[in-house]
Amino acid sequence: MQILIHTTGSSPDPWIAEILREFPQAQVRAWQEGDNDAADYAIVWKPPLAMLQQRPDLKAVFNIGAGVDAILEFGAALPKDLTIVRLDDAGMGVQMAEYVTHAVLRYFRRLNEFDMQARTGQWRFLKPHDKKNFAVGILGLGVLGTQIAQALAQFGFPINGWSRTKKEVPGVRCYAGPVGLDEFLRVSRVLVCVLPLTAETSGLLNEFVLGKLPKGSYLVNVARGAHLVEEDLLKLVQNGHIAAATLDVFREEPLPPAHPFWQEPRITITPHIAAMTLRGDSVRQIAGKIRALERGEPIAGIVDRTRGY
Ligand code: NDP
Ligand code: OXD
Repeated sequence: MQILIHTTGSSPDPWIAEILREFPQAQVRAWQEGDNDAADYAIVWKPPLAMLQQRPDLKAVFNIGAGVDAILEFGAALPKDLTIVRLDDAGMGVQMAEYVTHAVLRYFRRLNEFDMQARTGQWRFLKPHDKKNFAVGILGLGVLGTQIAQALAQFGFPINGWSRTKKEVPGVRCYAGPVGLDEFLRVSRVLVCVLPLTAETSGLLNEFVLGKLPKGSYLVNVARGAHLVEEDLLKLVQNGHIAAATLDVFREEPLPPAHPFWQEPRITITPHIAAMTLRGDSVRQIAGKIRALERGEPIAGIVDRTRGY
């Protein structure tokens, strides 16, 4: 079996070692420009288009992340029948749940405000928020969104969820599609975005949509930078409609040093770490799927290219 690997931003070597542990007989190689030799599978993060073209032998491309936007952005230039497979949790769900729970509790318990007070030596009581008025609205009720909902439900937060198709998740008030969005926003005090980036979701977090949240709401974006219209958020934070935001993803990463977000104390910035790809878990999941494909069995996580995720 021939396996190609390309990991933009990090060395492919530890991946190759991990894959060889699963498939000691395989020939695993890092893709180099001009390598059009046959391969059965590709394992990739942000691959160049050239790697995926002219490969009629390729049985599947495994993306080592949940979001496949960096592959689907090649659009019609991608081979029509290329099977693209995303990671299904692979240890990211619990990390997302931790990250978002931390952000929500920080705002609910006003720890962000106590922190700011402490910096100027102020010992001052702030009235606690009322949990029944502190509903968390999760945009995206898929693999990760559902785990965030389950984690937050344990603290007794009212939870709203929004998806493309109507869902039934215990403990979650479910809304779906463009018709469900307004009411979902109206009743959510913290908005958490964990949507895939698609033609439909790009730019969704804009002034018009965020303006439908109750005044003094909070935003947590752990999905993709292009979901957010960054200048709209700045405006809404500065006029107080959005009380604070926690952002893990940005239109340009790393966030440029001159970006105004760095100067806004109500915006908390992390460097795209909300849920990191765990190499061991990911390779084990991919290896299981390769074995299933080799046996002719169906696998989960195949991307629907018309849907965009
Ligand atoms: P899933 O595909 O499992 O879930 C996606 C959810 O979004 C589904 O509920 C889907 O609806 C919903 N959705 C998609 N399009 C729309 C739409 N147009 N309107 C309403 N709802 C929509 O994805 P995951 O949960 O695994 O991952 C989500 C995203 O999280 C990834 O695509 C990636 O961008 C991001 N991510 C970020 C990380 C980070 O570290 N910051 C790490 C990992 C992922 P339906 O259920 O009806 O299909
Ligand atoms: C992902 C990511 O999509 O890490 O998995 O952003």
